[in-house]
Amino acid sequence: MTTKWIVEDKEKENVFWPSEEMKKAAWVSDPKIYDEALKDQKAFWAEKAGALHWEKKWDNVYEQEPGKPWNFKWFVGGKINAAYNCLDRHVEGGKGDKVAMIWVPEPTDEKPVKITYSELNKKVNKFANALKKLGIKKGDRVGVYLPMIPELMISLLAVARIGAVHNVVFSAFSGESVKDRMEDAEAKLLITANGYYRRGKLLDLKKNADIGVEGTPVKNVVVVKRAELDVNWVDGRDHWFHELIEKESEKCESEFVEANDMLFMLYTSGTTGKPKGIVHDTAGYLTQAYWTTKWNFNAKDDDVFWCTADVGWITGHTYGCYGPFSNGITQIVFEGAPDYPDIGRWWKTIQDHKVSVFYTAPTAIRMFIKAGDAWPKKYNLESLKILGSVGEPIDEEAWLWYFRTIGGGRCPIIDTWWQTETGANVVNTLPGIGPFIPTVAGRPFPGIDMKLVDEEGNDAEMSGYLVEKPPFAPGMLRGIYKNEQKYIDTYWSRFKNLYDTSDGAKLREDGLIRITGRVDDVMKVAGHRLSTGELENAINEHELVRESAVVPRPDKIKGEVPIVFALLIDPSKATEETKAEIVRHVDKMIGPTARPAAIYFVDDVPKTRSGKIMRRILRGLVTNDTNLGNVTTLMNPECVEHLKEVVGYGG
Ligand code: PRX
Repeated sequence: MTTKWIVEDKEKENVFWPSEEMKKAAWVSDPKIYDEALKDQKAFWAEKAGALHWEKKWDNVYEQEPGKPWNFKWFVGGKINAAYNCLDRHVEGGKGDKVAMIWVPEPTDEKPVKITYSELNKKVNKFANALKKLGIKKGDRVGVYLPMIPELMISLLAVARIGAVHNVVFSAFSGESVKDRMEDAEAKLLITANGYYRRGKLLDLKKNADIGVEGTPVKNVVVVKRAELDVNWVDGRDHWFHELIEKESEKCESEFVEANDMLFMLYTSGTTGKPKGIVHDTAGYLTQAYWTTKWNFNAKDDDVFWCTADVGWITGHTYGCYGPFSNGITQIVFEGAPDYPDIGRWWKTIQDHKVSVFYTAPTAIRMFIKAGDAWPKKYNLESLKILGSVGEPIDEEAWLWYFRTIGGGRCPIIDTWWQTETGANVVNTLPGIGPFIPTVAGRPFPGIDMKLVDEEGNDAEMSGYLVEKPPFAPGMLRGIYKNEQKYIDTYWSRFKNLYDTSDGAKLREDGLIRITGRVDDVMKVAGHRLSTGELENAINEHELVRESAVVPRPDKIKGEVPIVFALLIDPSKATEETKAEIVRHVDKMIGPTARPAAIYFVDDVPKTRSGKIMRRILRGLVTNDTNLGNVTTLMNPECVEHLKEVVGYGG
């Protein structure tokens, strides 16, 4: 008989609690942990950080500059290396032969590859030595533009090994996106692949990478040979990964960096037109990545952990690399798409590799619901113990389907709220504590203090803006690269002495938090973060477009999709061909993840008297909101009637 990890609440419908077995198996099962950790947050995290390897212990656990809450530091003076904590520590502790990753390639005729901690360590060292020979030193930024292949994790850890800083760009992003990020980060080197597989097609990634480095400070490009594919080659600049590491030693001393030195940067969308380079430190980030992996998913030595997120996003950094590896567990690295060669691929992967912890996004779950229960039912999913959800609010239908059809009604669902900025998970429900309730994320992780406030920053009781109180969690961002003012303006200006998440939330009577979603101009499209401003900027650059406005429209599968209102320079060009061209242009400027779901050519968009686009009204129009609000104060109220016709409002 398979273990039941949860039990139903006898009094309330759709409320579940950990079973006795779960409580016994869990790292934490006593809810007192919350109060205890909050009593002295610094002491709590100091004790937690002690689980990592420190070359030198810190002098001061937490510092915050008076009057400047954004200027905080953890574990000041400590010396640490992230790769050492993910690899050497396990190898030296006798776990060298344990499988660190099972790589599942997309083509079904290629066999999965198992890599042990000891093998991974050697590869990382070889590549770290090669990077040093190419002139990469502590603090240098290294771009990483790779599909989900082992070399992606090897690259991250090799960069961390020598104290350099990685800057990953999602492989489905365009060459232009790479270029923006390499320029802004002043990267010296880019690691990419010749090609990659996506739904059976072999795509030329090197072509994009070439666009991505042109005119940037990147001097060297390292190319992983993922497939048999001839690509453009620039002698002297381009180097094959396999040729570089061939000659290198399997040993490479770790560069132990100061706890607050940068481990990585990762660009994410904000409200403005340009993505911002979120900066993460080494020790605080690693501490929270380690403990949230361990406690949220009850990670144990015999687990097979699978976070389906691409490493191009923060979830993949934290729960597809640093979290599982620092815990010394086995994880799946999956190259393909969930629906290739058929929509049973993920369930087959869980069956084949006996996955016990599975962490994915609501958008994927909604896609599987649509495909029907027959697919997961074909496979044995009894190895599953814990299910996770991340990236957007999970609706009740998706939660219950995930719970019953994938988890067989046995597994808790850990709904984890967090952001690129928080580095690791912040609000959730611990598996040994519960309760697990659809649409309710839970409580702040032990040692983190959150609350809700109103517009003025006063405490709000039932619903409001979600904010974090000091001392700020160790995994939190430490800045926006080269832009302190933007960092302060974006996160620290609205509410005094509090971190502004830009999410709205509701507080239940039992103290549990329900996340309601973003309160700014950031969309979540299939779980991917995208700003309306960024998309507008890209579209406005098209030669036929005078101006554009983008708003999200709810979508049954993707959560939200971008809808474009475009004003053309020459209105006679308002054709299907122009629409297709704008879509191609978005692909080129950002990538297919940002593709508009609909484009409306219009003569005007609603604006305030000062000329600001009123997206609120456009949003109301595309969602058929019966209350569009007061339009009489607009500069151009007459355009609203016309727009109603264009979008079929009220129809
Ligand atoms: O709105 C929240 C939503 O995703 C945003 C952060 O996006 P990103 O930086 O791409 O990181 C996503 C992965 C951590 C948040 O501001 N979000 C994330 N997780 C949840 C969520 N909304 C509701 N419930 C969640 N579990």
